[in-house]
Amino acid sequence: MATEKISKRKIMLIGTGFVGMSFAYSLLSEKGIDELVLVDVNTDKAKGEEMDLSDGLVYAETKMKIRAGSYADAKDTNIVVLTAGIAQKPGQTRLELVKINAKITKDCCENLKANGFDGILICAGNPVDIMTYVAYKTSGLQKNHVFGSGDVLDTARLRFAISERLNVAPSNIHAYIMGEHGDSSFVSWANTYVGCKNLLEYLDEKGDVSLAELQELYIGVRDKAYKIIELKRATYYGIGLALKRIVTCVLNNERAILPVSSYQQGEYGQEGYYIGTPSIVGSNGVEEVIKLPMTDQDQELFDRSFITLRQTIKDELS
Ligand code: LAC
Repeated sequence: MATEKISKRKIMLIGTGFVGMSFAYSLLSEKGIDELVLVDVNTDKAKGEEMDLSDGLVYAETKMKIRAGSYADAKDTNIVVLTAGIAQKPGQTRLELVKINAKITKDCCENLKANGFDGILICAGNPVDIMTYVAYKTSGLQKNHVFGSGDVLDTARLRFAISERLNVAPSNIHAYIMGEHGDSSFVSWANTYVGCKNLLEYLDEKGDVSLAELQELYIGVRDKAYKIIELKRATYYGIGLALKRIVTCVLNNERAILPVSSYQQGEYGQEGYYIGTPSIVGSNGVEEVIKLPMTDQDQELFDRSFITLRQTIKDELS
């Protein structure tokens, strides 16, 4: 299904919690979707969300049909967005959710496989890099048809923070957060640009913003979810829109470069697991992992992040 030209554009959302329904709500402004199926272990919740969200259709751009469904709908579904899972509590790291969310992810993917799903599977449950690995191992899908939201939200947060500090439009800040969607992520500053100008050169010429200050901005971005969770108990609008960005990229075969959680095959010297790296995303899922030139420090940070994820899988899931 994933490699055929997308005709009927059908999306399945698994998990109708805050993240899932923020994503679903964001689709109301999308014209090119034919059907959105809501699946949740709590079938009343899925039905209630169908009824509530459908009330907005009269005023929305979309013409998509919204309905509560089941895994039986998976066979002719193009894209599944998997948000089911427990959210972080205040002060809790994403990695601490690994055991319980791996069970939930495995159960969902076994159901998808049993019902013949062979489209694109996008994972968002945390720790997302590890949930994506579990989904790949369980779903029977090929490795590039499974990927995670990875650092797409983190990168949006970073670009916005840098754009505010430099007073340059976010669309002209070309920066990626890489690595784990979590505490061991990093920014390869040597691969960051303001328009077509290398950021480091730009900072040298401007003289009023230091790299140390931008690194502090990154630390604030890395830890932003903890602060939001302290204040409102969860994050969902940002990730909901990040998931919409990814889904429209697949649906429209944009082949845009997004820092999704991609299966590694040695591009950065590591392989066999998923981690956030700039990747070309299109109708066939992750079409290519983009290999950026790494400084020694970048490589050290990448290896540390990759090994953190791999070791967590070995320690907690084997
Ligand atoms: C966050 C969640 C999606 O970073 O992990 O807001």
